[in-house]
Amino acid sequence: MKAVTWQAKRSVEVTDVPDPVIEQPTDAIIKVTSSGLCGSDLHLYEVMTPFMNQGNVLGHEPMGIVQAVGSDVKNLQVGDRVVIPFNIACGSCFTCDIGMQSQCETTQVKSQNRGAMMFGYTKLYGEVPGGQAEYLRVPHADYGAVKVPEGPADDRFLYLSDVLPTAWQAVEYAHIPAGGSVIIFGLGPIGEMAARIARHRGAETVIGVDVVPERLARSKARGVHTIDLTKHEDDLLEVVHSLTNGRGADAAIDAVGMEAHGAGGTKLIQHAAGVLPDALAEKVFQTAGVDRLTALLAAIETVRRGGTLSIVGLYAGVADPIPMDTLFDKQITVKMGQANVRRWTDTILPLLTDDDPLGVDDFATHRMPLADAPRAYELFQKKDDGAFKIVFHP
Ligand SMILES: NC(=O)c1ccc[n+]([C@@H]2O[C@H](COP(=O)([O-])OP(=O)(O)OC[C@H]3O[C@@H](n4cnc5c(N)ncnc54)[C@H](O)[C@@H]3O)[C@@H](O)[C@H]2O)c1
Ligand SMILES: [Zn+2]
Ligand SMILES: [Zn+2]
Repeated sequence: MKAVTWQAKRSVEVTDVPDPVIEQPTDAIIKVTSSGLCGSDLHLYEVMTPFMNQGNVLGHEPMGIVQAVGSDVKNLQVGDRVVIPFNIACGSCFTCDIGMQSQCETTQVKSQNRGAMMFGYTKLYGEVPGGQAEYLRVPHADYGAVKVPEGPADDRFLYLSDVLPTAWQAVEYAHIPAGGSVIIFGLGPIGEMAARIARHRGAETVIGVDVVPERLARSKARGVHTIDLTKHEDDLLEVVHSLTNGRGADAAIDAVGMEAHGAGGTKLIQHAAGVLPDALAEKVFQTAGVDRLTALLAAIETVRRGGTLSIVGLYAGVADPIPMDTLFDKQITVKMGQANVRRWTDTILPLLTDDDPLGVDDFATHRMPLADAPRAYELFQKKDDGAFKIVFHP
């Protein structure tokens, strides 16, 4: 089959790889009909190079049709229409039972001291072949495949794989009081969807910060108070105070992560990590502050005293300098982590109706065949041509 494979820093190719087969009785194989390209894939494309191997199949936002099931699969039948959450979780261990599917004790990657396996996500997370491919093997398929109704186009349900539950969890973790305010850093797919969900769930003031004009305009059109960081690098706090009774936002969501704009020194360290031989580069990740922290620091600055910081953007450094004094003095609650996708899918599914309150039907800006993956990754990274959310149709 054809699949999008990682080749080298900033290089992906569509190559022929073996068709997946049932390996465990709890597996299913799906024929992929749509598959998202995510901001998390961009980290693999560029800075997470030391953790990738040439030929890794990318992608963790797939949906499709069940093609085959193992002998122990009870809930699925060939022909079912399913969305696949990006975490691989068993559904019956201690952590799955408490709604922490991203920490599933059955699939934890213990050799790397990591949480649950993920599709298409580095050797840190099990090097499991991903969903930007014609077919996908789904482990623990009874739990790891969410059945969705026939009828509407794929876009209606596709984002249950990642964007919707991730943004939902970001808002849940932000603890925005009824009628309160939230400031969201990053208006990519995750941040923008978090803004939509925050409004849907009753936030009165939603402030969105980004540096890309099209993205700011997109959020503004949906009622977000947008701030262009390129124009307000020096007076961001004053602008936020003017919108929040001089206090700062009740909650801040960091939907940017490790590749934030505006952190020159760290960009050099990330570049070094991306070009060094793997063993040395892993050392850099372990000993230098590799994450670009501009967005995180601004979130800490603009959240009010006693407020909540919800970090959904991905960070990977182990020696990042964090302002503990400010966090402590302002008494900020911090919640973060990979989305526990399956925890939220049943809550969100009833919102995926013809009324489309979250605007999923026209969320994507680009649809492409798998063959165009090299161009898609480049477009999405450079944010050229208004690329906001790209969906592959294998
Ligand atoms: N926690 C999870 O489970 C989970 C799931 C999916 C994605 N993610 C992470 O969420 C983040 C966002 O994902 P996405 O798909 O929306 O990616 P994206 O790259 O499209 O969006 C990031 C946005 O942040 C903006 N930005 C950059 N620097 C900024 C700054 N200093 N201040 C404000 N905005 C800034 C960029 O212009 C861009 O619009 C990524 O780090 C991704 O890895 C986490
Ligand atoms: Zn994703
Ligand atoms: Zn589990």
